[in-house]
Amino acid sequence: MRTALVIGNWKMNGTIAESRALASAVRDGLKRIRDVHVAVCPPFTALAAVAEVLGGGTIGLGAQTCHHEPSGPHTGEIAPPMLVELGCRFVLVGHSERRKEMGETDEQINSKVHAVLAHGMTPVLCLGETGEERRQGLTFTTVEGQLRAGVAGLNPDDIARCVLAYEPVWAIGTGVNATPGQAAEIHGYLRGLVSEVASKEIAQAVRILYGGSVKSDNAEALFAEADIDGGLIGGASLKATEFVAIVKKGAATGVAPKGGS
Ligand code: PGA
Repeated sequence: MRTALVIGNWKMNGTIAESRALASAVRDGLKRIRDVHVAVCPPFTALAAVAEVLGGGTIGLGAQTCHHEPSGPHTGEIAPPMLVELGCRFVLVGHSERRKEMGETDEQINSKVHAVLAHGMTPVLCLGETGEERRQGLTFTTVEGQLRAGVAGLNPDDIARCVLAYEPVWAIGTGVNATPGQAAEIHGYLRGLVSEVASKEIAQAVRILYGGSVKSDNAEALFAEADIDGGLIGGASLKATEFVAIVKKGAATGVAPKGGS
């Protein structure tokens, strides 16, 4: 039903030369890959070089954020049309590192989701609770608030064009991934919410990725969960062999008939 999607988030890593080398190794490692969709999100400075290496092939290009306006006096920002020009198909929106470090609010994130869609790209809306929120029993409340705010004002067809990424903050870059059961519980909950804000059909079609310390040795168990449709990979996407191995796990589970929730 849903083809798995695996996205590499390179974060603030890599010179142009290093990004070229990583992109080439990923491209070569995934030459004959089928039954899974793949994308990489290099830093802005390397987007053009990586686009050239990928050559418009099956591996998609994504950016890690963008501004919500198409142009204007926003020093240091990058606008959606600039990303389209570089060949980006995806934009990560509302990553927890940006929520925390840049103070991105749900309202700003919602504006970005609208802008990314308006420019024909796919927003990857990132959601997730902190460790403290989980301890306080606020996990469902937190992700529900982030989801509802993130897709506010979108019509169901636009919601259908979004990808969601559940990334518990306590699992990002820590080496402690959510267990498949923990992740599946939230994915099922999010899918139920999509059903409410869009429709049951759209909820069954929308991809919900898991992110947070995914590696080649835990990817299979995570991706095997019915409501987990692939991953958003940080640290492990910086090593081509690791990333390629994770994508292959996605291909192995991606087209299995999924029960949904
Ligand atoms: P990680 O990061 O795989 O290094 O935990 C995931 C992410 O932040 O998208």
